[in-house]
Parts: sequence; structure tokens; C-alpha cells
Amino acid sequence: MSESKIRITDLREKKRRGEKIVMLTAYDANMARLLDSGGVDVLLVGDSVGVVMLGYEDTLSVTLDDMLHHTRAVARGTSRALVVADMPFMTYQVSVEEAVRNAGRLIQAGAAAVKVEGGPAITGAVRRLVEVGIPVMGHLGLRPQSVHQMGGYHRQAVQREDIEALVEDARALERAGVFAIVLEAVGHDAAQLVTAAVTVPTIGIGSGPHCDGQVLVSPDMLGLFDGQIPSFAKQYLRLVDDIRRAAREYADDVRTGRFPEVARPAATREP
Ligand code: KIV
Repeated sequence: MSESKIRITDLREKKRRGEKIVMLTAYDANMARLLDSGGVDVLLVGDSVGVVMLGYEDTLSVTLDDMLHHTRAVARGTSRALVVADMPFMTYQVSVEEAVRNAGRLIQAGAAAVKVEGGPAITGAVRRLVEVGIPVMGHLGLRPQSVHQMGGYHRQAVQREDIEALVEDARALERAGVFAIVLEAVGHDAAQLVTAAVTVPTIGIGSGPHCDGQVLVSPDMLGLFDGQIPSFAKQYLRLVDDIRRAAREYADDVRTGRFPEVARPAATREP
């Protein structure tokens, strides 16, 4: 029996009922299908794709074409979860018109909503996107697209005045019409204050337990990314070790002639 599709209105309802929202990143159809069937509520086609899948150093190099390609794939693999696509760096900051045009392309690629990083500087674009019918998720705290401005990937909203500013930014995003806000790497108290200050759900990453939901970068939680994993990311698997071992065993089998076996019948994959 297929469960009904998650809508943006379901997320606010979950916050009202005190039910946690479960979000993970996905970048391809196969993984989207697995995570979707595992009961994840929201699949984010994050611009983290640049780092964990495409070998870029940071998210600043990710292009709209990259995001369109991965959004189409994730949409093809998803039946229940809400698919949200990140708007990459400089596709929504230059003008409201560009933001609408670019967000529209991500929706046409199969996303149900887009995510943008920032506070009052982007509320004009957020308002217009919502007016034309494109749901928007906000992203505050550590904003990887502003890594140079922030001087690195540091915990945000530590001082009292920064916490107050974070709460104000969240309220500004809510007034502009976002349906949820990601809080990345902010103090637990700051996340709790923001969560209480807005009626839209907050979804934390490295921001403690008081948010209305949690998101992780799926290759981090699966142990599939062979690079630096943030300390807050719980690892449920260590796939990098299994994959390396499998590659070694396969290489050994081929080189020694243990694979393919002479007796095994040839068969093709069913479409
Ligand atoms: O790009 C991404 O994966 C994200 C998450 C860290 C929330 O924005």
C-alpha cells in the first residue's frame, strides 16, 4: 500500500502535533528510492552534492545545471517524500526575476519546493517566489554559500546579540512566507529560541535536539563519503570500508581467475 505524498502543509501540522520531521539529502534516483521507502519525510537535493558527489571543494561551484540533473534523478526515485531542491550560489541573489526563473526550472525538474540561504537580504526573492506559487524553505546559521563572508565553517549564533539576530532573521523569513527553516550549526539554546519564535517548523543540522526536525547529509550518515565528516553527524553505517573491501576482493578474484566462474550461467539484468 503506498502512503500519501508529503505536502508542505503536513510539515506545519507535524510541528503542531509535536511530531519530528525526518529529512535527508539525496542526489540520485536509486538512493532516493531507498530513503523514500525507509520513511524519510523530506528529501533535499542539497548543493552539498558538489562536495560529497562531484568532487568540488565547496558548494560555491555548484551550477543550476548540476542541480537540475540531480533533482530530476531524485524526483524519478521518490514516491512519498517531499522533494526540495537547493538553489545554488548566485541563482537567487542577483535579482528577484532571476530567482523566479531559476526556481521555476527546479520545480519543472520535479522539486516541490526550493531552499535558499540567508535572512533579510533575500526576503524580497522569497516573497515573490511564494507569491508565484513556489514553496520556499529557508536556511539560517552556518550558510555554506557564505563561507568566505563567515570566515570558515564555524558554529554560529553563540553570542547573545547573534542569537537575537538569528531569531529576528527567522521571523523575517516566516513573514516572507517560508514553510520551514533549516538551522545549521547553531547553539542548542539558539535553536530552541528560534523554534519557539516561529510557527513554521525548524529543521536542525548540528543544532541540537530542540528543532522540529533533523536533517543529515546522507553520505555522512551512511559512511559513504570518503572525506571529512562533521562531528555532529551520527554514522549508521561505514560503507566506505565495505566498498573498499569489495573492490579489493573483486580485483583479487579477477586477477586470480576466481571470477567469473566457468560453471555459472550467463544472465542479464531484467529491465
Ligand atoms: O546542501 C545541503 O546538503 C544542505 C544541508 C546541509 C541542510 O543544505
